[in-house]
Amino acid sequence: MDKAKENKFPKKNGRPDSSRRELIRVGLIMAAGMALAEGLSACGGGEKKEEKFIRLAFNENPLGPCPQAREAMEAARTNPPTLTGLNRYPDFLQGDLLKTIAEFHHLVPENVVPGCGSSEIFNIIASCFLNAGDVFLTAVPTFQLPLEYAGLRGAEIQEIENRNDHGPDLNALASEVNQATRVIFLCNPNNPTGLIIKKADLENFLGSVWQKNPETIVVIDEAYSHYVQDPDFVSGSDYLREGPLVVVRTFSHAYGLAGVRAGYALAPLELADLMGGLRTPSLSEMGFHWKLGANYNRLAWAAAIASLKEGGEHLKQTRELNQKIKTLYGQAFSERGWEYLNSETNFVLAHAGIPGDRIQAYLYQNGIQVQSGNAFHSRYANWIRVSTGTEAEANTFIEVLNKYGPDSPVAEKVPKLYWWGY
Ligand SMILES: Cc1ncc(COP(=O)(O)O)c(C=O)c1O
Repeated sequence: MDKAKENKFPKKNGRPDSSRRELIRVGLIMAAGMALAEGLSACGGGEKKEEKFIRLAFNENPLGPCPQAREAMEAARTNPPTLTGLNRYPDFLQGDLLKTIAEFHHLVPENVVPGCGSSEIFNIIASCFLNAGDVFLTAVPTFQLPLEYAGLRGAEIQEIENRNDHGPDLNALASEVNQATRVIFLCNPNNPTGLIIKKADLENFLGSVWQKNPETIVVIDEAYSHYVQDPDFVSGSDYLREGPLVVVRTFSHAYGLAGVRAGYALAPLELADLMGGLRTPSLSEMGFHWKLGANYNRLAWAAAIASLKEGGEHLKQTRELNQKIKTLYGQAFSERGWEYLNSETNFVLAHAGIPGDRIQAYLYQNGIQVQSGNAFHSRYANWIRVSTGTEAEANTFIEVLNKYGPDSPVAEKVPKLYWWGY
């Protein structure tokens, strides 16, 4: 892991390839701005407002947060301006947050790195471990954001296409590992397929990777792990003692807290220590290795802790509803003759047989947001990805879908809700 240390915190003026990154950054900002403007214009001017849509595009939990998290946020919100009110900065040492997350995973607080959503964690991983020339290896299609951050740091993105059965080609990935392979990114279960990597396959994979390069950091994004039913699934957190591994979790999906922005990473002590210094306000990048974090506001803080301490009832309800809706979708897709993948998440990728963009535009025209498979990869151009919602939302989706015909009117323009592959 010495190389990890060397690369850590390049001085501001010593950053490699900064002009290239700047170009990419400006490009991304412009793309984001355009997407946002498109989104806003599609919502304004007498057209359907965003809140009127049935949102089946972002894999959110239709039940929202657990009652304990709601109460905790309410208490934080209504606290008078006292020592713990919203007028006060949160505890920059993040002590009880780290402790609660650590206890939940049977680890120690030093293994935990909080993030403003798991999105911040991916940025931290890239800035912490990647420099120009490093290889960032991944199976595609997968969740795109970590690849974007790696690209911003000048890493070479090496993509291995998923197998015909839609799972990651772990043998091909492992065979590509060499001394330049700095980070491998896996999403388990994967977005957009919803498929898991089974325990034995994950173990073999980690073994082969670290045999070839013991310093390669394997990052496993477990954003949807709470939904998994397959007993062959295992969390990467079981392997933190085996090698350089970072497991990324979020409160955005099963915990119903996408709006508050809360996530975290679990990592061996040395990696967690390095990453911790890059939490906003990112003091390590300024040359001070002080692990202070202002990346959880008091509401996110209260909600995250309450969610982990909730005892599992809300997660159980969430999973039950999710299973029910997936069954409804499965029946509806089968009746239409559509193939669909056996998702272990809260979304389903289904083969429409006609362009996903068209089905998406048709559904959008009728007030329903889903993702077109095209946004993820050309191999899914004729697929759609639909999140589970409430039963009423799912039934409306199915009803509208069943009315689709070649002459159905479709929205002229669908905002680029998915431009970076959420
Ligand atoms: C696989 C995966 N990882 C991470 C995220 C980002 O989540 P967060 O809201 O924690 O930033 C998403 C969001 O959809 C996702 O699909």
